[in-house]
Amino acid sequence: MKTTASPDLRPRWGPAGLGLVGCVVVAAIAGPAAPPALAQDSERAASKHEQLDSPDEPQSNEESSAQQATALQVPESLALVEGKALFRGLCSGCHGGAGRGGKGPDLTDERWIHGNTDSDIAKVIRNGVPRTTMKKLGESLSEEQIAKVIAYVRSMARGPGESDWEPYLTGDPKLGERLFFDPKGKTLCANCHSVNRKGGRIGPVLDRIASRRSPQYIMESILQPSKDIDPQYEAVQVVTAAGRVIKGLRVNETNFSLQLREENGRFHSFAKRDLEEFRVLETSLMPENHAEQLTVEQLHDLFAFLMTLE
Ligand code: HEC
Ligand code: HEC
Repeated sequence: MKTTASPDLRPRWGPAGLGLVGCVVVAAIAGPAAPPALAQDSERAASKHEQLDSPDEPQSNEESSAQQATALQVPESLALVEGKALFRGLCSGCHGGAGRGGKGPDLTDERWIHGNTDSDIAKVIRNGVPRTTMKKLGESLSEEQIAKVIAYVRSMARGPGESDWEPYLTGDPKLGERLFFDPKGKTLCANCHSVNRKGGRIGPVLDRIASRRSPQYIMESILQPSKDIDPQYEAVQVVTAAGRVIKGLRVNETNFSLQLREENGRFHSFAKRDLEEFRVLETSLMPENHAEQLTVEQLHDLFAFLMTLE
């Protein structure tokens, strides 16, 4: 019905994919107690998938050759086709196939962290955003190419309130905040993360997280932390000459030395030649079991709290 209508060649981690993953995991925690709501939910996800696919994928060969014909005649649409190709190649990995965000922010909504004029956007593309994964692309793209990418980004814009993903439940941000900082809670988010300068330093600062990442990505970060780990937050494990195993966040590494911070805050500095073993772990320091530790309501309260951090 939906996926067969047009061959979907986009990578599975596109927005629709994440939405579905979110649903499945939420479904898993909700358990058999709530089948009607879940059925509805996956239906909703399926129809979103459909919506997401249709606007920018050619529906048939006929249409795509028609598009190409117009593109050749009208220089403006040719620019758009080039803009799209550039976006697909260089940007969609982080901003999503339809520009609706992922690891990077949604570029199709009304919200712009760095300003919404063409020149603001060009500046971000040219210079990047320091200390984020948004690298400067001014050396790889000409000004003309930047303008084409911007035109394509503009063409994907959508109206306010037109959303393609909704959480399963509306959470209570106040309860979520309490849970996040609760020193006796099960999840101890604030042991590792800070918000407004309160909290630990093992994981990323979560200020402005709602502007920097898509909602799906944030939900996925809580449920499947190891799926996408920022290299800055990789966990390392060492075995000392005395046979002690220590795991922590890699704070700094050179050819000869390694500094790491354990979850309890303890800091270590090693000369590499003194270590028996050293490896980067493929799993996040962030616990994987939040789906089991939290009720569906708590998960959504936490999510609602994170979405207030704009
Ligand atoms: C490796 C991931 C990554 C890639 C690739 C990437 N971006 Fe970004 N981009 C980000 C992140 C993360 C941010 C948010 C930075 C911040 O925190 O301010 C961002 C921010 C932006 C912004 C500012 C959004 C705003 O709200 O003001 C624009 C515009 C943008 N990117 C465009 C692009 C374009 C166009 C490309 C491809 C040419 C691209 N990005 C490639 C990760 C990426
Ligand atoms: C033991 C430390 C630890 C705990 C506890 C922890 N996290 Fe994390 N978290 C991390 C690390 C490290 C990362 C970065 C690596 C990764 O993406 O998995 C991370 C990543 C994240 C991200 C993605 C941030 C980004 O910039 O993309 C979110 C959102 C997040 N955590 C939320 C939470 C919430 C909510 C809780 C409590 C339910 C929590 N974390 C508990 C260590 C932790």
